[in-house]
This record gives sequence, structure tokens and C-alpha cells, in this order.
Amino acid sequence: MPGIVLIGAQWGDEGKGKATDLIGTKVDFVARFNGGNNAGHSVVVGNESYALHLLPSGIINPNLTPVIGNGVVVDPEVLFQEIDGLEARGIDCSHLKVSEAAHIIAPYHRTLDKVTERFLGKHKIGTTGRGIGPAYADKINRVGIRVHDLFNAQHLHDKVEASLHQKNQMLVKLYNRRPIDVDQTTDELLKLGERLKPYVANTGLILNKALDEGKTVLFEGAQATMLDVDHGTYPFVTSSNPTAGGACTGTGVGPTKITRVVGVSKAYVTRVGEGPFPTELFDESGEWLRQQGHEFGVTTGRPRRCGWFDAVVNRYASQVNGLTDIVLTKLDVLTGLKEIPICVAYDVDGERYDDMPTDQAAFAAAKPIYETMPGWDEDISSCHTFDELPATCQAYVKRLEEISNCRISAIGTGPQRDHIISIHSLID
Ligand code: GDP
Ligand code: IMO
Ligand code: MG
Repeated sequence: MPGIVLIGAQWGDEGKGKATDLIGTKVDFVARFNGGNNAGHSVVVGNESYALHLLPSGIINPNLTPVIGNGVVVDPEVLFQEIDGLEARGIDCSHLKVSEAAHIIAPYHRTLDKVTERFLGKHKIGTTGRGIGPAYADKINRVGIRVHDLFNAQHLHDKVEASLHQKNQMLVKLYNRRPIDVDQTTDELLKLGERLKPYVANTGLILNKALDEGKTVLFEGAQATMLDVDHGTYPFVTSSNPTAGGACTGTGVGPTKITRVVGVSKAYVTRVGEGPFPTELFDESGEWLRQQGHEFGVTTGRPRRCGWFDAVVNRYASQVNGLTDIVLTKLDVLTGLKEIPICVAYDVDGERYDDMPTDQAAFAAAKPIYETMPGWDEDISSCHTFDELPATCQAYVKRLEEISNCRISAIGTGPQRDHIISIHSLID
């Protein structure tokens, strides 16, 4: 009953889409467990490039069942746009299963995301503006709308009324906006529910049965460890648990069913939105990484902030997620550098930290302590074994492995499916 959790080990955009696609060829189910359409996961197959937001990246593989788990927040309008876009390109989405317990992102969540960010001013989080935070806030406040609420008109009306009661006061009195109409919102959600119905299922039961029958399930994380609402750089985080534990709460599968936890890390680091980032580069090296790595957001198109590999972050990700394997991506991007700095620890006001500071003020003040490795000039995109890599490149990877407290099991050498070096199988 292999249950493989795949998560981002840094601040997102590590290449989880590509890694999911890689493992997806050998699994029966791919289940998203957290986040919503704040995610942007790219998969490149030949000349075709897919940007998945809400759908699991496995959907482009016809042999597996894609699942949206209860921990995901679902914007039905976005879901249908994504399904229509993929079906127009010949990808069948009819076998998608959506949890009846997943929470809905309603139009008022998107509105609230934007007005609260504006209201925060210089304290803003830099969210994707997709309504993620307000939808999760409603879930925790117990005024959320769940998928199965969309199938009963009276029940839905009551829920929307309860949810909008306080929000309309805030929208009018605090944000100087028009109130949102309960009847109209209910009607819109009911229509969306009609189209959603064929996909809706008891996904917890389906996944547990599959695992009991010896089938393989890949749990595809969105966002990343450092964006986790509990374990990340709070408050500059997303509103879900992208760490490995979130795979259990976000799908209804118990921790004893998880056999592997794969962390995806870039050979350097990027971050989108606000918040501390110790190895961030403000000079031409940062711009060089951005251009070489095409570091622009898949969801918002924002330029990503770039910095050197941070081993403190990776050690922390190994600890928080209980990583068994790392997929190291975008190693090819570093080709051409004379020297490559690696952050091995932090200096916080003269004190050395080998482990992640728990106090966010200390993390914000952390200065990277670097060691430097020699670079390489050779094109590595056609290397298919570790031994084919230039010696200095091998040494860089070995050093990252040593200081990350986890073995590196695969290496990305380009965006395509076959741009990969497999060292250890990620399945058995
Ligand atoms: P995700 O959010 O973690 O799925 O990552 P994104 O898809 O947002 O960003 C990763 C980007 O890097 C995408 O454009 C991928 O096609 C690309 N990519 C993934 N792995 C590699 C790699 O090993 N080398 C290169 N050059 N690009 C990669
Ligand atoms: P994938 O799955 C990178 C960031 C946003 C913002 C913060 C909160 O592609 O790795 P939110 O809209 O979630 O409330 O925004 O989280 N963020 C991401 N950054 N990759 C992502 O997803 C992200 N999803 C959210 O930029 O800083
Ligand atoms: Mg992304």
C-alpha cells in the first residue's frame, strides 16, 4: 500500500508539477491535499506545456485517477475553466474525483482577499488574490461552505446567510464596499454545484480502499514547507498545511499508510510575495538566476525573488516533513557559474544558528553564513546518470545532500520529462 507524499521543501515553485509527473507514470491515484488555485504547477511533455492550478498534475496521465481532497479549497469557476482548457487540448478530466467535504471559494472570498491586502498596506502578505486565506478563515470560523452544501437549496441559503452576515457589515462599514446579496450568491453557487455534482465523491473512502488493495497513491502538495501556516515564516505564509502531515488531514488517510515523503528542492531558492528570505540576492547574481531559471510566477506572473541554496531551510524541511528523499531540481540553471555559494548556517546578531530560529524576529535578522563550491560550464541536460555529471557538479550535489540530512534520489536537469537523473526509485 505505498502512500507517497510529495511536498515543496522551500518557498514553493520547486518543480513539484514535474516531480509529480515523473512519479505519476507509476501510480494509481494522485491526490491534492491542500491549497487551491494559488498553486501553479508546470508539466512539460514534448512541445506541450501545462500549467495546473487546482487540478492534480497527474490529470494529464490517463492511467491514474486524479483526486481533490477535503483539505483543498475549491473555486468551482476556476475548476471548470481549467477542465475546459485541458479538455480542449484532448485531456480527459471526466475521471476527476472531488471531495464532498472540500471547502468552496466563493466570489466574496476573492473580494475579501483583495480588500484585506489593500487594508494591510505595508504589512500586506503579497497573496495571490485568489481568496485562499478568507476561504480557510471561514472553515476555521465554522462558517464555510462545503461541496456537499451546494446540493440543497435551502440549506445552502442558510449557510450563505450565516457566512455573509458578518462579512457584509465589514464590507460596508470598514471597507466602504457594497454588501453582497445572499439570494444571488446562493443561486450562483447552486448552478456551479449542478456542474460539479458528477465529480463529487467520498474521496477519503476511495483512497483508503485503494491503499488497502495495494494500489499506489501519490499525495501532491501545493505551496511548501516555509509557507506552512504552522511551520513557515508566519505571518508571511499561506493559510493551509503544505507539510507532510497535511496530506493526512487533507485527504482522510491515516499516517500509518504513508510509506515515503519526498521533498522537492531547487538547487537554489526562490520566493514570491512578501516575507523574510535570508539568502535573497539583490545584485546581478539574483537577476542572472531569475533569467536563467525563467523565475516568473505560473499563477500571477510576478518575478520570483531569487537566492542561493539554503541548507538551514532544507534541514528544517527534512525535520518537519520526515523526508525520506529529495528531488533536486533546476541543477542545470547553475551551469556557467565560476563559484556557487551555499548557505550552511545563519548568523543572528553574532550568534551562529545551524537550525531554524523559531522566533520570526531572529529569522528576519538572519544573515547567511556561506561556503563556496566550484561551478561547472558543461551542459548537463543530456546527462542521465550521476556519473555523467561534471566532477564539480557531482561535488555540489553531494555537499547539498550531506548538509540537508536527506538523500537526493533524483536530479532535474531541464524542464522536460526526460531531463532527469534517477538515483533511487521513489516508489518502492
Ligand atoms: P511547482 O509549483 O513546484 O510545480 O513549480 P513551478 O511549475 O511553479 O515552477 C518550476 C518551473 O521550473 C517550471 O517552469 C518547470 O517547467 C521548471 N522546471 C522543473 N524542473 C526543472 C529542471 O530540473 N530544470 C529546469 N531548467 N526547469 C525545471
Ligand atoms: P506552488 O504550489 C509560491 C505565496 C504567495 C504569498 C503567500 C500567501 O506553485 O508552489 P495565498 O494566496 O496562498 O494566501 O498567498 O503564499 N504562495 C506561493 N508561492 N508558490 C506557490 O504555489 C504559492 N502559493 C501561495 O505568493 O506570498
Ligand atoms: Mg508553482
